[in-house]
Amino acid sequence: MARNFFTVMRSSAPSSTAERGTVTAPPPPSNMKEEAAAGVGVHLDPSLGAVRHEITEAVEMALELRDVSAYYGTFQAVDRITLPIPRNRVTALIGPSGCGKSTLLRCLNRLNDLIPGARIEGNIEFEGRNLLDPNVDAVDVRRRIGMVFQKPNPFPKSIYENVAFGARINGYSGDMDRLVEDSLRRAALWSEVKDELNKSGLALSGGQQQRLCIARAIAVQPEIILMDEPASALDPVATLKIEDLMRELAEHYTIVVVTHNMQQAGRVSDYTAFLLAGEERVGRLVEFGPTQEIFTNPLDQRTEDYITGRYG
Ligand SMILES: Nc1ncnc2c1ncn2[C@@H]1O[C@H](COP(=O)(O)OP(=O)(O)OP(=O)(O)O)[C@@H](O)[C@H]1O
Ligand SMILES: [Mg+2]
Repeated sequence: MARNFFTVMRSSAPSSTAERGTVTAPPPPSNMKEEAAAGVGVHLDPSLGAVRHEITEAVEMALELRDVSAYYGTFQAVDRITLPIPRNRVTALIGPSGCGKSTLLRCLNRLNDLIPGARIEGNIEFEGRNLLDPNVDAVDVRRRIGMVFQKPNPFPKSIYENVAFGARINGYSGDMDRLVEDSLRRAALWSEVKDELNKSGLALSGGQQQRLCIARAIAVQPEIILMDEPASALDPVATLKIEDLMRELAEHYTIVVVTHNMQQAGRVSDYTAFLLAGEERVGRLVEFGPTQEIFTNPLDQRTEDYITGRYG
């Protein structure tokens, strides 16, 4: 499909509106602020009304989404999302309830394949291949792109077995004790459970259970970890632990996190994508860019309204 981006590039982001040059371009969507219309260092997609800030740091992309649409039967939940997911960074997906954040997240590791009637279109480039291609093994995709859910869901097994489980299924032949310890350390849980690895995972607190689920995700050595509101069921202290952990994990993994908590998005993420569904409930990308830019210099009025709490 033809790309209809109007792209303006330059090597560094403008530091102020005054610096932005004027460009002749198709008329911007009505919600776009004036500086976006004249934006240097932003990508406008007039047909979809999306604006993407330029990524100015040198960073590789873990994933490249192009025109990703998702359907449940005849209902289109997500419409032609195009954005990059930078490697070893935390990218937050934000937007009001029902705008398609979880749907989009599940597309990223083919989990939506498991929902009867669900269908995905478009292209998600992962290591040179379209991971949506039917010839790509979805089970392998899910091993390399793990998922942590909103509600901690440990298996009714010991702490040790929870972490070892996925690795065993994948035929891991290394030192399992070592893998379990390393995974629990990375998930910032080791010091709390090292003397009771045979205790049931279900006997841990909610925050510990969520870190156990993160350890379980890490144990299969994924490249990317998807997290759908991973802290929304936790108290503030446990939430901060998960946030700290996300920052640490980004040294080794690429993280995509859905959150309703704007402070959390601001604290933990490097990049932010804001999605919104209109009257017809179809979720679309409104704005994507470095979190700092999205939060301090949003180019679409709707982004500003949402992050300042003026939107549903
Ligand atoms: N399994 C499903 N079958 C049919 N429709 C679905 C299914 N899952 C989600 N939807 C619909 O797709 C749209 C997007 O849902 P999704 O769960 O992705 O939104 P969300 O942004 O994650 O919302 P929330 O913030 O409430 O979690 C909604 O209109 C929802 O009703
Ligand atoms: Mg959701």
